[in-house]
Amino acid sequence: MPAQFPDRFTPVSKPAAGSLPPGRRFPSTIAIDGPAASGKTTLALLLARQLGYLFFDTGVMYRAITWAALNSHVDVDDEPTVCTLAEQTQIDVRPASKPDERINDILVNHQDVTWDIRTKEVEANVSVVAAYPGVRKALGEAQRKVGLRGRIVMVGRDIGTVILPEAELKIYLDASPEERAHRRYKELVERGQQANYEELLAAVLKRDEIDSNRAVSPLRPAKDARVLVSDGKSIDQVLAEALVWVFEGV
Ligand code: DC
Repeated sequence: MPAQFPDRFTPVSKPAAGSLPPGRRFPSTIAIDGPAASGKTTLALLLARQLGYLFFDTGVMYRAITWAALNSHVDVDDEPTVCTLAEQTQIDVRPASKPDERINDILVNHQDVTWDIRTKEVEANVSVVAAYPGVRKALGEAQRKVGLRGRIVMVGRDIGTVILPEAELKIYLDASPEERAHRRYKELVERGQQANYEELLAAVLKRDEIDSNRAVSPLRPAKDARVLVSDGKSIDQVLAEALVWVFEGV
């Protein structure tokens, strides 16, 4: 599913250094975690744009390995083989090279898979792949290296808890399963695709269940995360709430 850059939203004026309390600076590492379809990508893109930071969605890496497994006919239930694949696969995230609503180019061993990782088949298998400790280790190390460079908004499930526990601002973006299924439904219908609300709700609940109950790095807010519940809020409201925390500085 293409995450769209939300140009239609009202831009908020660029924060001026003078608007920070004296002696403070903007957080350099911002972690945004939360369940599927809670609006993490939209919020992260807006924050990254406001601050001139790098945007990094770690979910694409789990999707890329899932695609690589399916593409090479590896059984996703074959944990050792999937973990070896994760260690050996080269994933590149680059600036978008085509004006087709992509946020980045996603390359697997130099092949452009930007849209292939958004198929239903990948979506149905990615939670299983993301639960393997060997996969998480291989991808997590790469993610941490990128995160440590700073001036970054990182999106995922375990950024604030595991990948970058020292992140200077941690936001846990939540929404009820019904709200999230409803948003997915609207997105699909607006794009002229077929959608069934009950099926979407079931898929959201299933992914929540796997992501929250896995043994390694389960989805949960970090102890020091700011929890933002987006039910019934527009993206502008969500962004405004997040910017209050950014403007507090560190
Ligand atoms: O955010 P997304 O839907 O693109 O994530 C795809 C899958 O990867 C989803 O099952 C959760 C998992 N994931 C994860 O376990 N840890 C992350 N840091 C990012 C995503």
